[in-house]
Amino acid sequence: MPFQDYTLIQAPMAGGINTTELTVGAARAGALASIGAGYLSGQAIEEAVRAARDGGADAFAVNLFIPGEPGATEAQWRAAREALVPCYEAAGVDFPDTFAELPGFDEQFDAMLEARPAFFSFTFGRLDQACRDACRARGIALIGTATSRAEARQQAEDGVDAIVLQGEEAGGHRGSAETRGAGQPLAALLEACGDLGRPLIAAGGLMDGADMARVLGQGAAAAQLGTAFLSCPEAGTAPAWRQALAAAGPDATAVTAAVSGRYARGLANAWMDERAPRDIAPYPDQHRLTAPLRKAAGAEWKSLWAGTGAHRSRALPVEELVATLLKECRAAG
Ligand SMILES: Cc1cc2nc3c(=O)[nH]c(=O)nc-3n(C[C@H](O)[C@H](O)[C@H](O)COP(=O)(O)O)c2cc1C
Repeated sequence: MPFQDYTLIQAPMAGGINTTELTVGAARAGALASIGAGYLSGQAIEEAVRAARDGGADAFAVNLFIPGEPGATEAQWRAAREALVPCYEAAGVDFPDTFAELPGFDEQFDAMLEARPAFFSFTFGRLDQACRDACRARGIALIGTATSRAEARQQAEDGVDAIVLQGEEAGGHRGSAETRGAGQPLAALLEACGDLGRPLIAAGGLMDGADMARVLGQGAAAAQLGTAFLSCPEAGTAPAWRQALAAAGPDATAVTAAVSGRYARGLANAWMDERAPRDIAPYPDQHRLTAPLRKAAGAEWKSLWAGTGAHRSRALPVEELVATLLKECRAAG
């Protein structure tokens, strides 16, 4: 389906949230599904795409992180590692001797090209010309991400097919090239970017069809929802994370760079208060240093990424959630 046929995008969510069941269910119910492949190896991307197709999803987006600044210096790595010792201790998790490397972008990008999804979406910066040309040559449509008018204009100049405007309300990492860039409310972003001549995809804090209708009325061509899908039984969300979402009240989220070295929004826990480390390695090295802790610890030391709408989560099966969102949007539009 061409992009114009979608009003709802199930957001890419790297880290195992976008299971095959979630992708297939969202696609079957009429959303543009996404596979957050930012932490996957080339082989895992190939497998995820094959599984989605075998399950019956034909059009979906594969999403990757654009690599940015060089990683930590030796001194930054040592200081950040040291600062995390009390955090591992507090959580009762053994401090590891080694920290896993992340897959390289080139390997991921080549696997994505080979798999030829209908859409390639990306975050954390611009896609270079050679990569854009390679996608074009294979008929893969491009979806860039922006958190300011300046970034959205660059994406428009690069000729992407649609731009995700990610407001500061959004769950997960801020999709800016700037690792600590200030965010903006979604409504202000939509207003500032209406003249760029590209389809805009609104993201951040949208939880129901009335929210979708509102942003469509503000000039968006589609809405991208992440947090709303975290409570679907098909999502790969950890039990502690689901419980925290179900218990969340309004104002339950905050922003931190302590987990990964990049600003990200999640349910407030130890990462957002005085227990968080002060010395933080640049992204993605801080992510590597904190990964074993977040994996083994309870909810206080997990990354519970979620947007400002977390308290309005509905634990519905994905097909029912998509059908409900589209129905509510039509009713409110
Ligand atoms: C758990 C989680 C993981 C995310 N991972 C990614 C990702 O891998 N790539 C990406 O472009 N955006 C990612 N995002 C951001 C979403 O694309 C989207 O901007 C955000 O979910 C919208 O805000 P909402 O969560 O309030 O709906 C993630 C969001 C969440 C909640």
